[in-house]
This record gives sequence, structure tokens and C-alpha cells, in this order.
Amino acid sequence: MSKNFDVVVIGGGPGGYIAAIRAAQLGFSTACIDDWKNAKGGAAPGGTCTNVGCIPSKALLQSSEHYEHAGHSFAEHGTEVKGLSLDVKKMVARKDTVVKQNNDGILYLFKKNKITFFHGRGSFVKAGDGGYEIKVEGAAEETLLAKHVVVATGSTPRILPGAAFDEKLILTNTGALALTEVPKRLGVIGAGVIGLEMGSVWRRLGSEVTVLEGLPTFLGAVDEQVAKEAHKQFTKQGLAISLGVKIGAIVTGKNDVTVNYVDDKGAAQKAVFDKLIISIGRIPNTTGLNAEAVGLQLDERGFVAVDGECKTSLANVWAVGDVVRGPMLAHKAEEEGVAVAERIAGQHGHVNFNTIPWVIYTAPEIAWVGKTEQQLKAENVAYKTGSFPFLANGRARALGDTTGFVKFLADAKTDEILGVHIIGPMASELISEAVVAMEFRASSEDIGRICHAHPSLSEAVKEAALAVEGRALNF
Ligand code: FAD
Ligand code: NAI
Repeated sequence: MSKNFDVVVIGGGPGGYIAAIRAAQLGFSTACIDDWKNAKGGAAPGGTCTNVGCIPSKALLQSSEHYEHAGHSFAEHGTEVKGLSLDVKKMVARKDTVVKQNNDGILYLFKKNKITFFHGRGSFVKAGDGGYEIKVEGAAEETLLAKHVVVATGSTPRILPGAAFDEKLILTNTGALALTEVPKRLGVIGAGVIGLEMGSVWRRLGSEVTVLEGLPTFLGAVDEQVAKEAHKQFTKQGLAISLGVKIGAIVTGKNDVTVNYVDDKGAAQKAVFDKLIISIGRIPNTTGLNAEAVGLQLDERGFVAVDGECKTSLANVWAVGDVVRGPMLAHKAEEEGVAVAERIAGQHGHVNFNTIPWVIYTAPEIAWVGKTEQQLKAENVAYKTGSFPFLANGRARALGDTTGFVKFLADAKTDEILGVHIIGPMASELISEAVVAMEFRASSEDIGRICHAHPSLSEAVKEAALAVEGRALNF
């Protein structure tokens, strides 16, 4: 006997569990299937984000930042720390507790919203009269019948040919977040978001970190001025970043791994590491979904093919998050999840791809929304810029964290904000104001005329907006 639902969501990451909650809020009988297992084999909903992504990485970034501050910057605040020591196992255990709190929170939300949760693997069986038949393989086997299906199966790390992940010497994000000792020599292939965040964690804890990047430019998607400042700061902190390398043979020994590569000058190089993180992007996860059984189309890169509204090639089958086109970000997945549930209810779900913020949680943090200066140039858009350094912000001085700046890009004629780029303290929080402003199509003058609390880092945002018209007050 199959169990009938209005909506069945396959995948319980931020795209899936949020879609399920919104569908339940809208009155649909809803099920969510997720196969993630914790160390004891129990259910651990929340997907990559909760288990081996956003949440654990931010927990370790916070802990490692505390350690670095205790060792390097407390003294200037008049706090002397003697006998500073590091307990990596405790740090990682705390991270695991934070993850579990989030897993439990999602299980609670499922109950609260009367969502039926199935711990197991979901796959399509066939399309029938009453909807789609979905099989769940877990502790028990179940068959569900769904009027609507939301595919939210996420992504997995891209494998570098010739360097299989073993999570002992060659690590994905999963292994990089679970090390219980600080590797003396840590190699990172890929100077993207994961490489820089994970490289920062282990550098702060004492690793010598070498980052090998294939492209000749550093953080190519980031505004050039910000990327340049970030490169300067990370290098100053001790990350050894080599750009434009071509990775050759990767050879694992008993306790180390050797990476052969050609550097940007064409010279053959060899580097030996105790651990190697490979973070060269992620691929959509459609394995085991049995998409062929119902004719669910994938695009040429293996993503579930969707239109702008997350509709797939099949009626009443939707797909959201990392498994579809667009940035692989938790908040993008969530927005799509909400929008899909609302569309199922006949409402006008809405995701504005122009105002999805990006954050890299290094120190300094990097955050941006909208266009970069190089994009505006390429698109021949006439624009004005305004910048303000944190060095001239009173709160940043009081915090002792004056690195970086806020930069506005506004339309030359209308003054509409086209992009905001921040490198500096709490950039992750400050960017929200810019997102709101852009969502309401505000001008830089609008931000310049709004009262911002003093002393606050947000004043740097206001000042950068004022700088667009050349009238910053404190610089
Ligand atoms: P996922 O979170 O991957 O969830 C998919 C779920 O579906 C998983 O639990 C998977 O096991 C399950 N599943 C797959 N197939 C099936 C099946 N057939 N049956 C049942 N279950 C199935 N993004 C941010 O916005 N901010 C960050 O700070 C951030 N940090 C990150 C740090 C790291 C190290 C990594 C790796 C990623 C980070 N991301 C971050 C990206 C973010 O994790 C993803 O964009 C997000 O998790 C995508 O959500 P999703 O729901 O599409 O997929
Ligand atoms: P990424 O796309 O951010 O970076 C991958 C890097 O590897 C790129 O710079 C690329 O040029 C380089 N690369 C690719 N192939 C290479 C090769 N063969 N040799 C050397 N370099 C190579 O991907 P990453 O860091 O793996 O992260 C995946 C995704 O996860 C991110 O794009 C992002 O969507 C998400 N994420 C988001 C975070 C956040 O929002 N703070 C944090 C971490 C991940």
C-alpha cells in the first residue's frame, strides 16, 4: 500500500527541508525523504549545508579565529594569555554539537509542521494516474504516491582525475572539517570558496598552507579591487597561493601526498603535504534518483534541467538548489524551495537572481551583491563608484579590525545601485542592507540619506554610498 502525499520532497538540505516546510504551511500533506546519516547511523537532515558545509565550516572558522586572536591580538587589548594551548579534538567535537543542534532543529520543524520524514534514499519508480510513485529505501522500504515531487538532492565534490578522495590523505570538505590533528603541511587544490575558508581554518591553527589554483586570476568572480585586497591580506597572513598552475600526477605515500605541478612560469614543481584538500567545485547529485524511469531530463552538465521557475521537463516535478543551475548557495536553494511550494499552491513564487548575496567567511570577510566593476565594463554600462575604508570607521578602530573597504557601484544616470562589494569586518552581516536596497531598486543617495547608528560598521556602508557623489563625511 502506498502512502499518498500532495508533495514529496527528495532531499532534506536547505532547498528540500525549506520547500517541505513552506508546502506544509500552505496546507499540503507533505513528506521529505533524506538519506544523510550521522556517525551513529541516525537521521541527520540538513544536507551538505548542515552536516559538512555552511554550519560546520563556520563553527571551525569561529573557533580557529578565537585561537588566533588569543595568540595574536588579545595582547594589544591589554589581555595577556599565558600558556595558550589548542585542543583540536574539542574544537571538532564542539563543531559536531553545533551540527547536531541543527539536525535536531530540522527534525523538530518537521514535527511542528506535520511533515512526514522518511530516513532513506528516494527514487522514482513510475508516473501513474494519481501522480508519481516514489520508493524509499531505508530502515524499512516504503512506497509513496506524490501529486507533486520536488527534487532537492544537492551536490557532491568534483573529483580531480587521478586523485581519488580517501578522506585520510586526500580530503573533500568532509575530511577537511573532521581532522583531529593540525597537519603540518596542508595542500589545497582550488583557491575557491572552500579552499580559502578551509585553508584559513587550518592556517590559523598552525598548518603551513599552500593553495594551488588553476586559473591565472585570483577569485575571478569577485570584484577585481576586492580580489586584489583579499589576495594581499591572505598572503600576508601566510597562505602561500600559486595561481595559473597545471596539476600533474598526485602520488600518495604512507603518510603524505606529493603533488606534481607546472607553475605559471612553466617550471615543473613538486610539493609534499601531510594532507591535501581538493576543492575544485561541486557536481549535481542525481545518482540513484532513477530519473530515467520517469524521463526526467538532465542538462548537458548533469544538472536537472529546469526553467526559470524550477519546473522540470515533467509536469508537477520541480527541482531546486545545487542540483539545478545557478549559484550553489544555501540561501539560493531555500529561496527556490519557498518559491516552488508557492507555485504549487498557485501563487507567484519569486526568486530574484540579481540580488543573491555571496559571502566568503575568511578574515577579512568578503561579501557582495549585484554586478562587479569588471562586469559593468564588459556590459558597457556607465557607472559611478564610491568607496570607504574601514580604517576611517570609528567602530572598526574600536574593534581593532580596520582592514578593507565598502564599495558601491551605481548607475551613472539614475544612481540606482548596481553592485555593492565589501571586504572587511562583518561583511556577511553588512551586505544585507545592500541586498534590501537593491531589491527595492534604491539609489546610492537613498542609502546616504538614511540614519545609521553610531558607532557602527554600517556607517561605512552609508559613507561609501555618499562617496558615490564625492561627499563622504569622514574620509
Ligand atoms: P544539499 O544541502 O546537498 O542537500 C541534499 C540532501 O539530499 C542531502 O542530505 C543528500 O544526502 C540528500 N539526497 C541526495 N539524493 C537523495 C536521494 N535520492 N534520496 C534521499 N536523499 C537524497 N552555502 C552558503 O550559502 N553559505 C555557506 O557558508 C556555505 N558554506 C559551504 C561550505 C562547504 C564546505 C560546502 C561544501 C558548501 C557550502 N555552501 C555554503 C553550499 C551549500 O552547502 C549548498 O549550496 C547547499 O547545501 C545546497 O542545498 P541543497 O538543499 O540543494 O542540497
Ligand atoms: P569554487 O568554484 O568556489 O572554486 C573552485 C576553484 O578550483 C576555482 O577557483 C577553480 O578555478 C579551481 N579549479 C578547478 N579545477 C582546477 C584544477 N584542475 N586545478 C586547480 N584549480 C582548479 O568551488 P569550491 O571551493 O569547491 O566550492 C564549491 C561551491 O560550494 C562554491 O562554488 C560555493 O557555491 C559553495 N560554497 C559556498 C560557501 C559560502 O557561501 N561561503 C563556502 C564554501 C562553498
